[in-house]
Amino acid sequence: MITRRTASVGLAGSAILAAAPSLAATGSTVLELPPPRSEGGKPLIQTLKLRRSIREYSDRPLPAQVLSDLLWTAFGINRPIGDRTAPYWRHIMVIDVYAAMADGVWLYEPKRQVLLPHLRADIRAQTGLQDFVANAPLNLVYVAHGERMQDISANDRRLYASVDTGFIGQNVYLFCASEGLATVFRGAVDYAKLNRTMQLGADQFVTFAQTVGHPRG
Ligand SMILES: Cc1cc2nc3c(=O)[nH]c(=O)nc-3n(C[C@H](O)[C@H](O)[C@H](O)COP(=O)(O)O)c2cc1C
Repeated sequence: MITRRTASVGLAGSAILAAAPSLAATGSTVLELPPPRSEGGKPLIQTLKLRRSIREYSDRPLPAQVLSDLLWTAFGINRPIGDRTAPYWRHIMVIDVYAAMADGVWLYEPKRQVLLPHLRADIRAQTGLQDFVANAPLNLVYVAHGERMQDISANDRRLYASVDTGFIGQNVYLFCASEGLATVFRGAVDYAKLNRTMQLGADQFVTFAQTVGHPRG
């Protein structure tokens, strides 16, 4: 179940995100995700056999539990010390994962396993140059925080941020393969426009995006 902490609205069911009132309507500040599952999924070799990119999506929303499991798999905390499911450059968490959905853009906050509101608009269509991005229920937008990468060149910032993102993206691919979901990692993005739309800071930049949803048909 997702709960909206400030509005105290409890929502249940597989259409949970579609049914969620807009942020503007509730004035809520945090979407609490259900705890991620601690077991399950297909064995690794079977999962690798199923991993692929898919570009045809149903507009069916993702259930809250699936969203929680997906985000944890992507870049959640897997050790008490706070380390993550994906490796990252110099032990500095450069990448933040944003979820662009019909009801707005949310920042994944793994310590509390919540989504923090970032934008109230539906910007899915602006997360990529391919038509399916507008209707798929979820586009992950990977944002690098250059300000956390001191003493290296702009090129190196881009390099390490991209590598960090690639690991997260592969986690998402494996989760989707295991769960029968569709995904595609994407570099076909109008970056200047998306950086503006996301209202990113001067040193922040989108590295890649990744669509997730149920396969169409
Ligand atoms: C860095 C990178 C950028 C990519 N950008 C796009 C993209 O913009 N649009 C797209 O449809 N697929 C994109 N892909 C997915 C590749 O096209 C896909 O992984 C490749 O064709 C192999 O297919 P498979 O993933 O089904 O094995 C990208 C993959 C990577 C690694």
